[in-house]
Amino acid sequence: MHEPRIIVALDFPDGKSALQLAHQLDPQLCRLKVGKELFTATGPQLLEQFMTRGFDVFLDLKFHDIPHTVARACQAAADLGVWMVNVHALGGRKMLQAAREAITPGTTKLIAVTLLTSMDQNDLADIGLAGQPEQIVDRLARLADECGLDGVVCSALEAAHLRQQLGERFCLVTPGIRPHGDSADDQRRITTPQQAIRNGADYLVIGRPITQAGNPLLACQQLHAEISAVSTSATKH
Ligand code: C5P
Repeated sequence: MHEPRIIVALDFPDGKSALQLAHQLDPQLCRLKVGKELFTATGPQLLEQFMTRGFDVFLDLKFHDIPHTVARACQAAADLGVWMVNVHALGGRKMLQAAREAITPGTTKLIAVTLLTSMDQNDLADIGLAGQPEQIVDRLARLADECGLDGVVCSALEAAHLRQQLGERFCLVTPGIRPHGDSADDQRRITTPQQAIRNGADYLVIGRPITQAGNPLLACQQLHAEISAVSTSATKH
């Protein structure tokens, strides 16, 4: 059995709906991502329930604050026993280093968000960030690497370039995944699961193609099989 590369985005407003979905899934096939909405509504108890059922949890809270505060938040996340947590690379070098020092390497994975994909060049200019978004993503990913983080969240379209620049060890987590023929929903730049893996992604964040499927387990099984067929380094990370 290949290790699960799928991270199911549990974008639900309440714990009951999230648990109902998780009960239909298999921790051998996927991990779970809990973001701001669900975590704010339910708190850490829900994470414990997922972990008790054998799921690895990615706590997607994108911490961005002064270094001390982010370090303490990262420590608290690691203490919860989550598999992965993230911070904003825009918090800068000192914040990233403080986050790294708070989490022992080899335990909870610490990754960074570079630029939010919702921001276009005009949005970046508004906040004084000059340059092409791709260049900024590249710079922030390098900064995350220099600060010892385990990887970044990035578009699968950026993954090939970042893999080449940052090497095999660096972990690439890619959302915006749609199986061939599926609805794009509100995603703009989408990639198939196979292409994302070929581009060098380690983990694929997949929400609605699984959570809104008539049979979420079957959808997850099919995606896992497609990914396993193209993955050559399944035991990585
Ligand atoms: O339903 P869908 O597959 O579009 O869900 C994708 C998940 O990945 C959502 O939780 C979304 O917030 C997250 N995400 C994203 N694009 C980013 C970062 C995170 O779609 N750049």
